[in-house]
Amino acid sequence: MRILLFSGKGGVGKTSLAAATGLQLARLGHRTLVMSVDPAHSLGDSFNLQGDLFHGRTSAPFQVSERLHIHEVNIQHEIKRHWREITTYVTSVLRTTGIGGVEAEELAILPGMEELSAMMYVNQYRREGQYDVIVLDCAPTAESIRFISMPSTLDWYMKHIFPMQRSVMKAVRPIANKLSPVELPPDSYFGNILDLFRKLEGIDEVLEDPKQCSARLVTNAEQMVLRETQRAFVYFSLHGLTVDSILVNRVLPETVEDSFFTEWRASQQKVLAEMDSYFAPVAVKRVPLFKREVLGIERLQLLAEAAYAPNEDPSVPLSLDRPYVFDKVADGHYLVKLTLPFAVKGEVGLFKKGDELVVQIGSLRRHIGLPTSMAALSPAKAKLENRMLTVDMKEAV
Ligand SMILES: Nc1ncnc2c1ncn2[C@@H]1O[C@H](COP(=O)(O)OP(=O)(O)O)[C@@H](O)[C@H]1O
Ligand SMILES: [Mg+2]
Repeated sequence: MRILLFSGKGGVGKTSLAAATGLQLARLGHRTLVMSVDPAHSLGDSFNLQGDLFHGRTSAPFQVSERLHIHEVNIQHEIKRHWREITTYVTSVLRTTGIGGVEAEELAILPGMEELSAMMYVNQYRREGQYDVIVLDCAPTAESIRFISMPSTLDWYMKHIFPMQRSVMKAVRPIANKLSPVELPPDSYFGNILDLFRKLEGIDEVLEDPKQCSARLVTNAEQMVLRETQRAFVYFSLHGLTVDSILVNRVLPETVEDSFFTEWRASQQKVLAEMDSYFAPVAVKRVPLFKREVLGIERLQLLAEAAYAPNEDPSVPLSLDRPYVFDKVADGHYLVKLTLPFAVKGEVGLFKKGDELVVQIGSLRRHIGLPTSMAALSPAKAKLENRMLTVDMKEAV
């Protein structure tokens, strides 16, 4: 099964392109699911599905045409399904502080639950094998980064914090519950977390395998959007995902001659040229601006025709280059290479924590689990050259 992850700034056309890509895939014979991970769902709207027909049934995939299903992940439904113990606990804690009712229920939706729920589905569909391709219509960039970093964060939590917390809780609960104004989490809370973790097992490897998952960044030919796209590219690379193409949407067609657009055209051309050089060798594809909103299946089909050649299969990975690589130089000496095309040297922080190399860019952090053979090594030096951050890992003297 292939996973195509569409991300980018709000309003650039992620949902429209994810939907159009779904149509193209289904037409070429792939059993396809387009899944919306953006809590502000608009996938059903993009297909112009009317009220009850779709929105009453969003908790399961909904067929829109031959071989094509769409699914908007419904967080309320997911909470009932997966997060009951956790939200029950959080709600009870909130109640002791005087917050109750609907308000507490809303607050008990913790950041990341939507993303994790979506990932559980991806994992489930992967195991069941009923789809050939899953297209993920993600939330704007910042949230997608949370989505893709969640498995490694969770993995880290499960390895380092969870075992300790659970046993400490067991020991202190009988005494603490007598003294503390807040009830400590019951054991079922931990059971729930463990169960959720099992449902997510393996998904991080899938997301990081370019044969199974490609990220595609949707953008517009505007300076401001370009910057966010560059940042997203770095962060996606850091999190081990392979961005295999950039889709520049709403490019002014040649046929537009009105002088009103002269400056727009010039600035778009400038940004497009910049994008080509920034993202090379990653492909930068152009998708034209349409005369009107892309709404409903017929216009989405036209968008698919504008974005892809008739026999172009969007499920084919356009690049298999992994964003980071481990190379052995000699015994006790390895190089860890990360593709960080836009990072400036001063912004990259490096340190070692247990068996992990921690790379930090701005406020985002990536724990790179080191292979066993490298776990005892420390980062000796790092150099940034040709957009590649090379970290020398050596035995500490
Ligand atoms: N190439 C295009 N030409 C004209 N309108 C477009 C194009 N792509 C998207 N749109 C319109 O732009 C709006 C935002 O697109 P959408 O796909 O919802 O963006 P996102 O999911 O990134 O927020 C929608 O009304 C959509 O119909
Ligand atoms: Mg959208």
